[in-house]
Amino acid sequence: MQTLAWAVAPTWVMDRCAQRLGPTFTLTLAPSGLKLVLVSDPEAVKAVFTAPAEVAPSAARSSPLAPVVGPHSVIVLTGREHMRQRKLLLPQFHGERMREYEDVIVQATKRDMASWPIGRPMRLQERTRAITLEVILRAVFGVEADRMDALRKAIGDLLAPLHPLTVVLFALRRPSPERPTGSIGRALDRLDGVIYEELGRRREQTDLAQRNDILSLLMRARDEDGRPMSDEELRDELVTLLLAGHETTATSVAWAVERLVRHPDKLRRLVAEIDAEAGGAGADNGCDGDRAADATPRSGDANGRSADAPGRVGDGGAYATAVVNETLRVRPVVPLVVRMLQQEMRVGAHTLPPGTRVVPCIYLTNRNARVYEAPDQFRPERFLANPPETFSWIPFGGGIRRCIGAAFAQLEMRLILRTVLSELEPKVPKYSRGWRRGEWTWRRAITLVPAAGARVVWERRDHPSTQ
Ligand code: HEM
Repeated sequence: MQTLAWAVAPTWVMDRCAQRLGPTFTLTLAPSGLKLVLVSDPEAVKAVFTAPAEVAPSAARSSPLAPVVGPHSVIVLTGREHMRQRKLLLPQFHGERMREYEDVIVQATKRDMASWPIGRPMRLQERTRAITLEVILRAVFGVEADRMDALRKAIGDLLAPLHPLTVVLFALRRPSPERPTGSIGRALDRLDGVIYEELGRRREQTDLAQRNDILSLLMRARDEDGRPMSDEELRDELVTLLLAGHETTATSVAWAVERLVRHPDKLRRLVAEIDAEAGGAGADNGCDGDRAADATPRSGDANGRSADAPGRVGDGGAYATAVVNETLRVRPVVPLVVRMLQQEMRVGAHTLPPGTRVVPCIYLTNRNARVYEAPDQFRPERFLANPPETFSWIPFGGGIRRCIGAAFAQLEMRLILRTVLSELEPKVPKYSRGWRRGEWTWRRAITLVPAAGARVVWERRDHPSTQ
């Protein structure tokens, strides 16, 4: 029963176990017998995230994602090899690089919005997925993204909505290290075909040094021993970025609107800030909210507190940042991350033996009642005065495996929200009364999504803000 419930209603299982058993408990999944020890106290989460890489490496090698992204993917690798790939990728998602993506995000959003229906319900998640796919394709391939329809189609097929029964089987199965067969395998073959063809083309081009898309930068990058990345490594990192880099962000934007539309006062406050920014006045929220802007530990080490980001003009103000942080807290898209203990380890009040899969539970940590007042409520204000803390706000995981694209995703969320809400006002569809309090959380492979795809009705705003 526990396993079936885990497959179809994971948040219900996590909430119920936490209520009955406290912040640490073991889930045993049939038929494989796989055991997961979930932890959600900030101290326990800190112990796991700050443990040396050789003591608690990621268990992603045995995740269902591994055969898709490939053996050289930064998500799958551990130890020295992981750090090598991570160091090559990190600079693409930090600091000034980010500025270069702003225009791409706004333009992709505007282009897609042009086809949105007005006054009729639509599933927002499908549209935000198209926007974020466009953004990551442009970031990775630059202008070449224009002729990448085959790639768009292959990714679409790879991530096509699964039949509910398949979802259950997926959740119950012990992941296989084999490359998938069937329609997913065929989509993967086509994806690889396009990528290797593009790599071949680029190797022959002479302007690689002038280009600043991620692929060109990765092709030029050298590790500490002066080695470039092989084609297989490049393929695996590109697939990783394309897959990890769009669906998660798209779902998070969908969740943000799903929450905002049911909290009209928060929506009004956000729109007022956006309008004030567009008018050049700057929003006054009576706080120093930019401190909450980006929780990426700057050094990439696990101990840093949420880093302070300087205020930015144009990508959303303090309240937008708080809305993004609160959405990621209360509706985290990735519910957990898994580490495989290589040695005995003390985690909270428990001593766990080697071989244990210890799981910082993102969903429960982000709702720990010891840290958050009314933890299941959507209250962006909680992050206006206090920035999120490293070990009790973990939508992007943590330690040396923390999400490489965290700052990119937060920027993208703020910019998509700003661009959309400048022109349109979301309403809950009339016949969605059953959903008045919110859409249920549904499982989509390893992510948690709004069950109805974040259904909204858009109305044109009487006085759209001037962008
Ligand atoms: C809201 C959007 C996103 C969420 C919620 C999210 C969440 C996560 C989580 C939970 C992890 C695992 C961390 C751990 O094991 O401790 C992760 C890893 C990763 N993410 Fe994201 N992610 C998002 C967006 C992105 C974007 C936009 C990119 C790239 C463009 C990206 C690239 C990666 C990569 C490469 C890793 C592997 C890092 C490593 O193992 O060292 N993600 N992400």
